[in-house]
Amino acid sequence: MNLHAPALTKAQHFDEHASVFARDVIDDLSQQPKRLSPKYFYDAAGSELFEQITLLPEYYPTRTELTILRDRGRAISAIVPDGAALVEFGAGATTKVRLLLNECSFSAYVPVDISGDFLTAQANALRADFPGLDVHPVTADFTTPFVLPEAVSKMPKVGFFPGSTLGNFEPHEASAFLRSARGILGNGARMVIGVDLEKDERVLYKAYNDAAGVTARFNLNVLHRINRELGGNFDISAFMHRAIYNRDRHRIEMHLISKKALTARVLGRNFSFRPGESIHTESSYKYSLERFTALARGSGWTPLESWTDPAGMFSVHALVASE
Ligand code: AVI
Repeated sequence: MNLHAPALTKAQHFDEHASVFARDVIDDLSQQPKRLSPKYFYDAAGSELFEQITLLPEYYPTRTELTILRDRGRAISAIVPDGAALVEFGAGATTKVRLLLNECSFSAYVPVDISGDFLTAQANALRADFPGLDVHPVTADFTTPFVLPEAVSKMPKVGFFPGSTLGNFEPHEASAFLRSARGILGNGARMVIGVDLEKDERVLYKAYNDAAGVTARFNLNVLHRINRELGGNFDISAFMHRAIYNRDRHRIEMHLISKKALTARVLGRNFSFRPGESIHTESSYKYSLERFTALARGSGWTPLESWTDPAGMFSVHALVASE
């Protein structure tokens, strides 16, 4: 009897998500330059590391967005129709949505996320704290079209997309997402969206190269995930984190750099690395107010209002669906 057979069989039996992950990893590591999609950062360990990032002194976006949502709660509530359903694209920590739910008169809350377990926990916590609120979680990939629950079909809709997650999309993907959200939310919908702003490169550099090395661990975690879930054999100690600001493209780029010549084997394929070769793991686009509002206008939305913190670090925009 081949003692290795059960392990091999298990490793080759992927559920649907795992096989998409496997296909993407093989395709992306076969590109020149090599890349990996940032959506694969967020397994349990990666999500925990991201929560730690949001608390770092250098990582201003989360803190700053919370301040704007808190300080501008009144103004934001003015664009929310009575009895509206709040549709959140992606479900993370509930801190931001709680600010909106406290300030505005929503009848229903629809968190949309690919991770059903996470959604259930989040929905239960909010049901307990907002007894009058109807909570209707939707398990779906919010970057592709999905159907809203029948229970909210007659309510006015307000989309919520905080955290500058839009910045992790390529500009054409950001535009496609906004168009898709416009289609899902329908005529008359509003959208509240958090977008990180362009700023002094040194501030950006520090935010993605924190002194405690949490962002480095977050970046390297994707290789741990490939080893664990796809049976890869990446020597993780042979890679280092690098984040740089690409001024021409207005984006922070995160890379994993190979410190030496090496080969990693994943699902029976060999991927060779030269010393200093990069895997591009994430882009985090930074927008000026003008570039973001132009993107929104070109993607089915009319800007209503934009709010920033006094130092101009981060922006929150209210949009209305264009007729
Ligand atoms: C989730 N996203 C908006 C974060 C960002 O800033 O682009 C992810 C992140 N990457 C490194 N640090 C934080």
